[in-house]
Amino acid sequence: MNFKVTNLKPFGVLVEPKNDKVKVQDLDIESLRHLFRMNQLVALRGFEAFENADHFSDYCESWGEVSLWPFGKVLELVEQENPQDHIFDNSYVPLHWDGMYRPQIPEYQIFHCVKAPLPGQGGKTTFSNTTLALQSASSEAREMWTKVTGVYERKMEFYNSKTLSPIITKHPHRDVSVIRYGEPHSAAKGHFVNPPVLEFTGVDDNELNDFHHSLEEALYAPDNFYAHEWQTGDVVVADNFSLLHGRERFVSKSPRHIQRVHVLSDPPFSNPGLESYQ
Ligand SMILES: [Fe+2]
Repeated sequence: MNFKVTNLKPFGVLVEPKNDKVKVQDLDIESLRHLFRMNQLVALRGFEAFENADHFSDYCESWGEVSLWPFGKVLELVEQENPQDHIFDNSYVPLHWDGMYRPQIPEYQIFHCVKAPLPGQGGKTTFSNTTLALQSASSEAREMWTKVTGVYERKMEFYNSKTLSPIITKHPHRDVSVIRYGEPHSAAKGHFVNPPVLEFTGVDDNELNDFHHSLEEALYAPDNFYAHEWQTGDVVVADNFSLLHGRERFVSKSPRHIQRVHVLSDPPFSNPGLESYQ
């Protein structure tokens, strides 16, 4: 093996080369897939970077079928001058799962850090391991979450969709429960451009605060939560079926440039909650 593996806390693994000049493409994909299945997040650091977006998406094809968006395969996450949506802003992004508004939900999110923010500028990508959160939750909390369904509507450049999901549901391909939750944005964490419209049904209005608070506590608990601080050249493969993810805010005009590709599961997973999609 041309790489070494260390555990990240509280979940995930860091994969680094044993010697110089190893390319990401040189790593055995089935070994990485095994690490991914066991740990839900694989961060590759210190390998030779991709020269351009096409090389990156070509690499992602080795993980499975790449999901095609109106913009193509690679989403370029760079802060924009006057962003029409929070994904192109420098704001924090609450926890969610990708593909929730799309016909298919990808299993793999693959990120490539073209340029990292400077130390202290923020912009970590955040991940919550929902299988761990469920295992450590109290029975009262689980009982409450089981009653609730989230209803989400979001209109942005690439779609205008409505989708719903029970808070607790089954992993599409494994016999394990996961949390699907689009976290409401918190005004206390600053501005947020183009928020989705969220509704949570199944609990009384007077229980809603407790509901959101208990999920926030569980999902951001240090035992379930990992925030990836980017270094230029990092590649992170994250399990979009069992993790939720978001972003910490970053200093405006930081040199933060992340590319992201969605890879479908085999067989692809059709979004069970999509009510309308344009
Ligand atoms: Fe996302």
